[in-house]
Amino acid sequence: MIQVQVKDLKKYFPVQKGLLERILSRKVDYVKAVDGVSFEIRKREIFSLVGESGCGKTTTGRLILRLIDPTDGRLIFKGRDITFLKGEELRRLRKNMQIIFQDPYASLNPRMRIGDAVGHPLEIHGIAEGGEKKSMVFETLRKVGLEPPEKFYNAYPHELSGGQRQRAAIARAIIVNPEFIVADEPISMIDVSLRSKILELMKQLQSELDLTYLFITHDLAVSKYISDRIGIMYLGEMVELGLKKEIFSDPRHPYTIALLSAVPIPNPRVKRKHIELKGEVPSPINPPSGCRFHTRCPFKEETCETEKPRLIEVTENHYVACHKAQTLSIN
Ligand SMILES: Nc1ncnc2c1ncn2[C@@H]1O[C@H](COP(=O)(O)OP(=O)(O)OP(=O)(O)O)[C@@H](O)[C@H]1O
Ligand SMILES: [Mg+2]
Repeated sequence: MIQVQVKDLKKYFPVQKGLLERILSRKVDYVKAVDGVSFEIRKREIFSLVGESGCGKTTTGRLILRLIDPTDGRLIFKGRDITFLKGEELRRLRKNMQIIFQDPYASLNPRMRIGDAVGHPLEIHGIAEGGEKKSMVFETLRKVGLEPPEKFYNAYPHELSGGQRQRAAIARAIIVNPEFIVADEPISMIDVSLRSKILELMKQLQSELDLTYLFITHDLAVSKYISDRIGIMYLGEMVELGLKKEIFSDPRHPYTIALLSAVPIPNPRVKRKHIELKGEVPSPINPPSGCRFHTRCPFKEETCETEKPRLIEVTENHYVACHKAQTLSIN
């Protein structure tokens, strides 16, 4: 069953200009943060969005949660078009879709006790208060491994480690029993030694609570551990999409191959194609013509500069946007 459908989604942010620039030019420039992205997330799956900084991962997540309005495109949640949802209906939808941020310290109010922060959504959505709220918070703290719960209930964020704070943020996200969670780089600011424990917890909660995740990460190794399927983004576009197994064993887009080249492989004697990423990511204000990756692609041909490659299915459920996808292979 399909939980989320993203159809040709776009988000253009107007560029703030200085006074002089505004006087000299009336043209408004836009950052094309997300530029025509389409994909689906199935119920109970972990779908990862992967790509370098600035490629539009967070913007895509915020658009799906309706935290910002799209410039164009459609969002379907459980078969219902939510693109233009407003007011009370949007508020009710929010209960079903939660977010876990990168920085658990910034996302928890430093003056609010953990118990109050975790229980806050219960109040907002009118689910429980008083003693009932407290027992639900205790139960949720246990679920995320903050035990004994009475110890954490009265603690302040600064008294917790980074890993414990992220557990509290996870507790706050799951307490209202949502179906869908966007986790935006949830482990990248946590001490390396604690990361795998948090990933394990997220996986365990996913199966226990039947959750669907959009998991955002710049790290392919993390996505290898957690995902069922992976979407690779470059400069606001989806360039490759498929089952984790396909992405790792048969990547076809040169950008994916380049990202994979940076991930250590278990058996270094296995030879595979290696691409080193050269140069900077071009500006999303004036992205390159044709294939946006052509300025950094070692396999570039003339057509790549002029014709935008469409995302096409190369093998079953494996999609690639590259003119040379049929011939490129790492094996
Ligand atoms: N509110 C905003 N106003 C203007 N530009 C924005 C805004 N939010 C994001 N951008 C721009 O949109 C592009 C995509 O940003 P986004 O945060 O979605 O990328 P990301 O893939 O999440 O990057 P990172 O890995 O650094 O978190 C970037 O060029 C960013 O500067
Ligand atoms: Mg981001």
